[in-house]
Amino acid sequence: MIRKVFSQFFNGVFLITKEHNMPVTVILGTQWGDEGKGKGADFLAENADIVARFQGGPNAGHTIIIDGQKTVLHQVPSGILQPRPLCILGGGMVINPITLCQEIAALDKQGVQNIRGRLHIARNAHLILPLHRDRDARMEKSHAIGTTGRGIGPAYTDKISRLGFRAGDILSPLFKQKTRLRVDDYLKSIDEKEDALVLAEFFSACEDLRPFVSDTVDLIHSALADNKLVLAEGAQGTLLDIDHGTYPFVTSSNTTIGGACTGLGIPARAITRVIGIIKAYTTRVGNGPFPTELLDETGALLQKRGDERGATTGRDRRCGWLDLPAIKYAVKVNGLTEAWLTKLDILDTLSEIQVCTEYFADGFCAKASGVINCLETVTPSYVTVQGWEQEIRGTHKFEDLPQAAQNYVRFIEQRIGVPITQVGTGPDRTDNINR
Ligand code: GDP
Ligand code: IMO
Ligand code: MG
Repeated sequence: MIRKVFSQFFNGVFLITKEHNMPVTVILGTQWGDEGKGKGADFLAENADIVARFQGGPNAGHTIIIDGQKTVLHQVPSGILQPRPLCILGGGMVINPITLCQEIAALDKQGVQNIRGRLHIARNAHLILPLHRDRDARMEKSHAIGTTGRGIGPAYTDKISRLGFRAGDILSPLFKQKTRLRVDDYLKSIDEKEDALVLAEFFSACEDLRPFVSDTVDLIHSALADNKLVLAEGAQGTLLDIDHGTYPFVTSSNTTIGGACTGLGIPARAITRVIGIIKAYTTRVGNGPFPTELLDETGALLQKRGDERGATTGRDRRCGWLDLPAIKYAVKVNGLTEAWLTKLDILDTLSEIQVCTEYFADGFCAKASGVINCLETVTPSYVTVQGWEQEIRGTHKFEDLPQAAQNYVRFIEQRIGVPITQVGTGPDRTDNINR
């Protein structure tokens, strides 16, 4: 009896200890996407056992540059260029089988090792059908969000409507038949028929993806039980979150911290580190409010120096000053434990830099959380800080930055209340300062 109680006690302690050590790190965007999450995730992936995308789909474009060689990942997690980690496309994602196969083929061609042994697709991840892209394009005509046109919204709509198909369905003998019925229904619902909905290529890609469909929840939980490091990689950014962003000018998934739990099947308490990526200024692709947008030559300069062109659609990104009320909102919503500041080097040529420190609405100071639904009505108030007018590209030590650049980093850090532990000084994998 005593032995039994003892063993239960020790089992209990053991379990608690294991749960407390569950080391999930989440990396996510704090702005409107394109903050440099891909580069950050690749950096962290060196020591990770699993890298898992938890939401979004091929609307993402995550850039990694290694010794000048550029790779843009859309659906495959940014851990794939490191030799070791398993890479998971999580259940919160919407996956386009055709473009995923193309992405895998391109990585193969590039010489990336052991993709087949390392890549796993969650059974509950939803599939983007050709009809979703068609519907995305049609909706843009009447309701312009400026989407990436990748079928994201319609695929998530079908998921929520319980009409979707999931990666696990590929394994079912009824998959093709059910999909064809769905497409027939869709064709009946639209006026002009298009022949772009041919399913042969889609089915062929689904066949190719069969071996990748796995029990990813178990893969992740087994890793956590062994105290391995799991990295959850976000796409888009906090202000594009379907619930917390600048609705309706948002994407159709939860880009914020909760998305990591639902999108991967992990408990909230497994997350021990939350890294928010902040670009040293602000960019946005697509429509919607942008309080600090610069429509002048400074905006054009940021666009040009920052090479601010969408990694997915090639559209020019809108550019503006850093928006601290928005970042503070992202700090709160996501519970950031730290922040990484990227693209500091893009500000090198400026003699003065403006930073938005407050919003005013109806003459009163407003928090982003209070005006997120009407951000177009706020007037930003700025503090001017000194520029450094000196090249910092490739700098590796914080002390080697010009004083004004150090001050800029410290100024942001003080205002947002979380430490900035990495500063990006160039696009290459190694262009970082770790503090
Ligand atoms: P993501 O969607 O958040 O992964 O970001 P993107 O890849 O869409 O856009 C970020 C761009 O900035 C990419 O072209 C990166 O190579 C580049 N980048 C990331 N960090 C830095 C940095 O610190 N300095 C410079 N100059 N470029 C960077
Ligand atoms: P990464 O992961 C920047 C934007 C689109 C559009 C809105 C809705 O590279 O940071 P969607 O196609 O998702 O329905 O489009 O969201 N958007 C992004 N902007 N970076 C992204 O991803 C984006 N993914 C979607 O431009 O305004
Ligand atoms: Mg991007």
